[in-house]
Amino acid sequence: MCFTNETEKQKFYIDKCKELVKSREQQYGRKLTACVVTFGCQMNFKDSEKLMGILTEIGFMETEDEHADFVLYNTCTVRENANLKIYGRLGYLSKIKEKNPDMLIALCGCMMQEPHVVEKLNKSYRFIDIIFGTHNIFLLAELLYERLISGHKVENIWDGTTEIVEELPSIRKYSFKSGVNIMYGCNNFCSYCIVPYVRGRERSRKPEDIIQEIRTLVENGVIEVMLLGQNVNSYGKTLNPPVTFAELLEQVEAIDGLKRIRFMTSHPKDLSDELIRVMAKSQKICKQMHLPLQSGSTRLLKLMNRHYTKEQYLELVTKLRTAIPDIGITTDIIVGFPGETEEDFLETLDVVKKAEYDSAFTFIYSKRSNTPAAQMPDQIPETVVKERFDRLLTVVNKISSEKTKHLENTIREVLVEEENKKIQGFVSGRLSNNSVVHFKGDSSLIGKLVPVKLKEAKGFYYIGELVN
Ligand code: 5AD
Ligand code: SF4
Repeated sequence: MCFTNETEKQKFYIDKCKELVKSREQQYGRKLTACVVTFGCQMNFKDSEKLMGILTEIGFMETEDEHADFVLYNTCTVRENANLKIYGRLGYLSKIKEKNPDMLIALCGCMMQEPHVVEKLNKSYRFIDIIFGTHNIFLLAELLYERLISGHKVENIWDGTTEIVEELPSIRKYSFKSGVNIMYGCNNFCSYCIVPYVRGRERSRKPEDIIQEIRTLVENGVIEVMLLGQNVNSYGKTLNPPVTFAELLEQVEAIDGLKRIRFMTSHPKDLSDELIRVMAKSQKICKQMHLPLQSGSTRLLKLMNRHYTKEQYLELVTKLRTAIPDIGITTDIIVGFPGETEEDFLETLDVVKKAEYDSAFTFIYSKRSNTPAAQMPDQIPETVVKERFDRLLTVVNKISSEKTKHLENTIREVLVEEENKKIQGFVSGRLSNNSVVHFKGDSSLIGKLVPVKLKEAKGFYYIGELVN
């Protein structure tokens, strides 16, 4: 078979699978169901939308129930407990498959890029039908076809890729907002992090492809996009001609009908003054910056290979707050990196107090195989780490609850996302700064931008009132 490009080839396999699924449908007298379970970050969620897009195109009906005909786990391996979670869930899946041997189980994502994981799966979890990685998710239809035709397990993992496959189907969880990949991979090699090994080298999508995708999304009802990359601030450096992230943002801003733009994640070492200027004058870029700190100790930052000091980080925070007064700044912090002393930890607490984060994701350091930090001396005892982690959490929570008070009794625009799961008759949405607001309203508001008075700050969220 001869194809002019990968997209055409995959569309061919989608059609082939369609025929096979149809004949099974007739055999069973019902539609086949597919369940994609996502672990990990926004990138994985976006990949899962693409995977589900391919599966629905093939003819599967989407379900959240793991008693499905096809179950796909899109895995994460950023910390050890992410892996443990998968092994636990696989035990549960095997029981379901015992009762339904025709069920197909597939695994993909970051964990599959680790050879020792695949070895373990092949040895102890032999009921898995398809294994693939992060670089070839666009192959799903081809791999499924191979599995259905051969009856054998299919394993297809790539070490890396330079390829970006455009224009395959995708399904969106929300009709009014969407993630948009602007780049893949990471070149930073922070010494604790496994991502560069499992997601490969940095590669940027062409601005025209990104703009076209967003235009199409807007035509289909999307008003908010989240531009996704491991380090969006280094977007476009390898393109010919190079494009800066700030320039890309200006092009996205010009798209008619688009109301809100978010992005993540920013690396402090690459955050430019140009970006701050573009954000400050923008009407659409949300007043939100996720700026991972990791540690407040310059000594540890060096060992982490982060390329900034405590002072440089705090200067960035000051610049952002000066240029964009209402900006919500959030962060990621790791506690218990090898060699972390009490003094290092106090430096982290100091930055947390000075930066006044709106919220912070705090993580206990997890040793990842083959990363430089895994070989470092002075791995910190669990009891010490736990004690520091609790102290950090107390400070983070206190500051973020004080921070949210600032907007109390102001009227802000909220993008309504869903009906509130806990309080009947309430809906939930987000402010520009990403804070969550719950207020009285019904499902007709979902997907709309509405003015809401923030009546009460409740720590991490607000209770509001719709302004008519
Ligand atoms: N241990 C703990 N946290 C980690 N992160 C990345 N690698 C590790 C690790 N080995 C955290 C970082 C990163 C976030 C996505 O996950 O804080 O910003
Ligand atoms: Fe990991 Fe650092 Fe890359 Fe983020 S920037 S994905 S922490 S290596």
